[in-house]
Amino acid sequence: MEYSEILRTRRSIRSYEERPVPVELLREMIRESTLAPSSGNNQPWRLVVITNGEMMRRISDESKKNLIARLEADPGDYIVRYESALRNREYNVFYNAPALVIVAGSRDYRNLLVDCALFASYFMNAAAARGLGTCWVNLGSDVRDPGLRAELGLSDDDRIVAPIIIGYPRAIPAAPIRREPDIIRIIE
Ligand SMILES: Cc1cc2nc3c(=O)[nH]c(=O)nc-3n(C[C@H](O)[C@H](O)[C@H](O)COP(=O)(O)O)c2cc1C
Repeated sequence: MEYSEILRTRRSIRSYEERPVPVELLREMIRESTLAPSSGNNQPWRLVVITNGEMMRRISDESKKNLIARLEADPGDYIVRYESALRNREYNVFYNAPALVIVAGSRDYRNLLVDCALFASYFMNAAAARGLGTCWVNLGSDVRDPGLRAELGLSDDDRIVAPIIIGYPRAIPAAPIRREPDIIRIIE
């Protein structure tokens, strides 16, 4: 696939076929995504790969619970726009996708967010190039329960940056409209 076609094909996918994604394929895409640039080539990302639907549901429920608590503590929090979904017991923030890759890393590392976001971007494009769909789901990132974190292999030091669901899309929607980029100035 041409690079520009990969960019056009990569859309946030929220509806997936009930078809599993082989772990070996996920490994291949993760390895490919390590080609992403990172500050000082430090590659601070650590990955958790999950294909277990029950575990994904538990993470979804845990994150929803914590986000609702956050909202109750601060009703002005921007996540108020997702309140009705978060309060819906049936709502799975991971849209019943067949797999989830969590990109995390040491919370004290100064370039963690940028480096992990670059990794995530490469990963989403690697998936699109293989006909797979992804969606970065921040609503699934608020995992605090120590027992659950331990099951995921995350230490207290780890911050979840990008929970990315992945699977075979039922359909690829058109891209949401993009604004013209604000090029402030061209100096030739
Ligand atoms: C940091 C980040 C967080 C996101 N969190 C969510 C989320 O929690 N749930 C969701 O459905 N989509 C989420 N998205 C997907 C965006 O809504 C999506 O990228 C945007 O609407 C543009 O659509 P496109 O990805 O198809 O181009 C997130 C995207 C990013 C980059």
